[in-house]
Amino acid sequence: MEVQNSFSSLVLGSFARPSWTSLFLVFTVLIIFTLQFSGNPIWPAPGRGEGTVFWDTGGPPSCAGFFRDVPVRKVVMSIEDFGGVGDGETSNTAAFWRAIRYMESFGQRGGSQLNVPRGRWLTGSFNLTSQQSTTSFSPLPTRLISDLKDWPIIQPLPSYGRGRERLGGRHISLIHGDALTNVVITGQNGTIDGQGKMWWELWWNRTLEHTRGHLLELMNSHNILISNLTFLNSPFWTLHPIYCSNVVIKDMTVLAPLNAPNTDGIDPDSSINVCIEDCYIESGDDLVAIKSGWDQYGITMGRPSSNIIIRRVSGTTPTCSGVGIGSEMSGGISNVIVEDLHVRDSAAGIRIKTDKGRGGYIANITACNITMERVKVPIRFSRGANDHPDEGWDPKAVPKVRGIFISNVFSLNSTKAPLLEGIKDAPFEGLCIKNVSILGLAPSVKWNCEYVSGATHAVFPSSCPQLQSNGSSSWCLYP
Ligand SMILES: *[C@@H]1O[C@H](CO)[C@@H](O)[C@H](O)[C@H]1NC(C)=O
Ligand SMILES: *[C@@H]1O[C@H](CO)[C@@H](O)[C@H](O)[C@H]1NC(C)=O
Ligand SMILES: *[C@@H]1O[C@H](CO)[C@@H](O)[C@H](O)[C@H]1NC(C)=O
Ligand SMILES: *[C@@H]1O[C@H](CO)[C@@H](O)[C@H](O)[C@H]1NC(C)=O
Ligand SMILES: *[C@@H]1O[C@H](CO)[C@@H](O)[C@H](O)[C@H]1NC(C)=O
Ligand SMILES: *[C@@H]1O[C@H](CO)[C@@H](O)[C@H](O)[C@H]1NC(C)=O
Ligand SMILES: *[C@@H]1O[C@H](CO)[C@@H](O)[C@H](O)[C@H]1NC(C)=O
Ligand SMILES: *[C@@H]1O[C@H](CO)[C@@H](O)[C@H](O)[C@H]1NC(C)=O
Ligand SMILES: *[C@@H]1O[C@H](CO)[C@@H](O)[C@H](O)[C@H]1NC(C)=O
Repeated sequence: MEVQNSFSSLVLGSFARPSWTSLFLVFTVLIIFTLQFSGNPIWPAPGRGEGTVFWDTGGPPSCAGFFRDVPVRKVVMSIEDFGGVGDGETSNTAAFWRAIRYMESFGQRGGSQLNVPRGRWLTGSFNLTSQQSTTSFSPLPTRLISDLKDWPIIQPLPSYGRGRERLGGRHISLIHGDALTNVVITGQNGTIDGQGKMWWELWWNRTLEHTRGHLLELMNSHNILISNLTFLNSPFWTLHPIYCSNVVIKDMTVLAPLNAPNTDGIDPDSSINVCIEDCYIESGDDLVAIKSGWDQYGITMGRPSSNIIIRRVSGTTPTCSGVGIGSEMSGGISNVIVEDLHVRDSAAGIRIKTDKGRGGYIANITACNITMERVKVPIRFSRGANDHPDEGWDPKAVPKVRGIFISNVFSLNSTKAPLLEGIKDAPFEGLCIKNVSILGLAPSVKWNCEYVSGATHAVFPSSCPQLQSNGSSSWCLYP
């Protein structure tokens, strides 16, 4: 099999208050961007095996081993070599275009790395998509886009069947990549500013015609490391790996105004072996949301999200949740570990969202060591998202939710006990909840359970009858 080895790294600068009509991306400080293009995305079999490191010698547990190191790039260039100027005023669009083309020319010669040195570098959005070829590469199709009409509309995702917000296609992301392997995007705490305000306004004033793009979207890609960067002001969900495998997102900061609509932090979608570790996220939507496609489109595509580890993540989102699972989950979501999550001043902590029509499953979800302050509903499972792509959804396609393990939760100044609402024809089963203390509730506040079964142990306040085991609960085996 022929696999091309082209490593590229981009270093981009930043700009003070650029006008959105001229340029969109602001990179500050240092970003190293390496890419290897391969004609065919690699799909390892699901499983915990590949590259997994759960315990570093001595250090805290880590899943960073999902990313397997790439060889050292033979050629290292700076954006300045391509005429880039990091003064915060000059457009670097053409320089980046030249740089990406150059980087790709090393596809068969050991690869290259592009550095963006300290500075403020302005540029437009770009497309890292490689040609679907295993033998030759034409110049990397890169777009540096400078006006709304130039944000091309790309195909809807097959597992959504349409744009998430509007029918039809969707705007491309600021950084868009398809069918890549060995992608490294890193920086010494550098910043990429998506300047999403224009997009939020289009949403607020109801003049958005097509679904917004992401700050970074990688599709059909394998072996990805995104680290040590601050992503600001995404137009829509900030990081969106979809149909990807072996993705590590570590030591990242994601910030958006707390009222910026749908600015989710990190949304692994139909992806396997994803490690999200040591991140701080503040945004207008879920800090992390695991997804796998929407109703009949997601069911047909049948591509799950599995082996997802979310560890040492903290942050706040006043109207949404710390970790959300769903509501789009039609390809199935399984084997998720959430550990050492700290959520404050938010609407929910751990949230499962689904509905009739979704089909799919949510299984083997483990959440433990969760601390919260001023989170209204610390644990919430809900049905009735009532949000379907079109009339073609199947009311008989009910999701199967089974095997949800939640332990060691300590929540201060909450307003609601767990709110657990399953679906009438498809009760949520095998809920195991233990050692949960939810403090600060009014004495009258009780658990609210419907169409759920399982067991609880050592929870405060005491749980609902559906979850009070009247005998043996030995089936409730914690993994
Ligand atoms: C990105 O590049 C790929 C490969 O050339 C191309 O097929 C696709 O149309 C490009 N997408 C956009 C939105 O420019
Ligand atoms: C990274 O930058 C942010 C502000 O942009 C700052 O709050 C944070 O402390 C910095 N982190 C490190 C490790 O330097
Ligand atoms: C909606 O917001 C966009 C982006 O800020 C703006 O260009 C447009 O004029 C606004 N439209 C209305 C009707 O307010
Ligand atoms: C982030 O930067 C710190 C400090 O330079 C470094 O120790 C750490 O390994 C980096 N993280 C990743 C995932 O590269
Ligand atoms: C859940 O875990 C159990 C035990 O490890 C395993 O047998 C089962 O296949 C898993 N379910 C899914 C949907 O991955
Ligand atoms: C949870 O926290 C306890 C007490 O701090 C610690 O001993 C344990 O290792 C943690 N477990 C995980 C899985 O993080
Ligand atoms: C219960 O959870 C708390 C954290 O909320 C932890 O400190 C404690 O060790 C846990 N107890 C047991 C028995 O696991
Ligand atoms: C919880 O609420 C009490 C009473 O309003 C307040 O004194 C305390 O500081 C709050 N604690 C947290 C962690 O929010
Ligand atoms: C335990 O008993 C209560 C009251 O009789 C009942 O409502 C509940 O369904 C039972 N729970 C289980 C897990 O069997």
